[in-house]
Amino acid sequence: MKQIKDIRVVVAGSNNFDIVVNADRTPKEGENLLASNLKFFPGGKGANQAVAVSRLGAKVTLISAVGWDFIGDFLLRNLETAGIDTRWIRRDPNRSTGCAFIAIYPSGNNSIVVDPGANFTLEPADVEKSKDSMATADAILTVLEIPPETVEATLRAGRDAGKLTVLDAGPARRCSLEILKLADIVSPNESELEALSGERVEGRESVRKAAEKLLELGAQTVVVKMGSDGAMLVNAEGAKHFPAHKITAVDPTAAGDAFSAALTVKLAAGVGMDDAIRYANAAGALAVTKLGALPSLPTWDEVDVFLAKGN
Ligand code: RIB
Repeated sequence: MKQIKDIRVVVAGSNNFDIVVNADRTPKEGENLLASNLKFFPGGKGANQAVAVSRLGAKVTLISAVGWDFIGDFLLRNLETAGIDTRWIRRDPNRSTGCAFIAIYPSGNNSIVVDPGANFTLEPADVEKSKDSMATADAILTVLEIPPETVEATLRAGRDAGKLTVLDAGPARRCSLEILKLADIVSPNESELEALSGERVEGRESVRKAAEKLLELGAQTVVVKMGSDGAMLVNAEGAKHFPAHKITAVDPTAAGDAFSAALTVKLAAGVGMDDAIRYANAAGALAVTKLGALPSLPTWDEVDVFLAKGN
């Protein structure tokens, strides 16, 4: 087993500026709905996962693209402060930095509308340039918030270099069979699982069936994030459910990112799959207890304390 401080992860993914409000309900089309508590946070699934990896104690390089605008400046500064290797974050002069518009509802659920902006200019050539970082990494983690050809190039580079390859399958999009095959671990939430499998997902039995469909399509191991119902591991050996931690939900934004980052770090360190999922479940649960994407991502000692308390 390797120590977490010696683990290196390369994340290829998105950077967004999150504009967050509290709303009583989703607006209808054409409706002007009042909201409250406007806040701005650094976010984006790639950046969130990179920061989560760093807070859990591992070293991390982020391959990404932001615009040449004040929001890009702000996000880059934040990542540098968080100790992320930002060498491979490209500034794109022609596109705005990605932005996410997030509404949080009284139920604790949210909805997110994203304009990916510069994120969608991230290309396989950006991955190619970073191959020295890939060579020294233990694990490669990527997300579907960048172009599919870049996701594929990332996973292929990771696979060719013999690294652990993890696909956080957010946001909900279909993806090629090639991408599914190149990822050692595919980790969707329920709506992402529905998009990937084309199967309706509602309840544990349907999660198992849809994840099995992904195995038929070429995925090797599927770890489904089920929010307040925990997580499910589905692979050739069968399906196993992991119960959720009991927490008071404030904002679920980035809980999936904390989960994927924690799972990747633990597996890269050589921890067994079941224990890695239990740890990821705790990291995801902690992220739900705080407002915002980046501010909610737990540190390794917060996760250890949470687990030690028997939560
Ligand atoms: O996973 C959460 C993230 O999704 C937010 O930070 C937002 O930027 C969206 O991309």
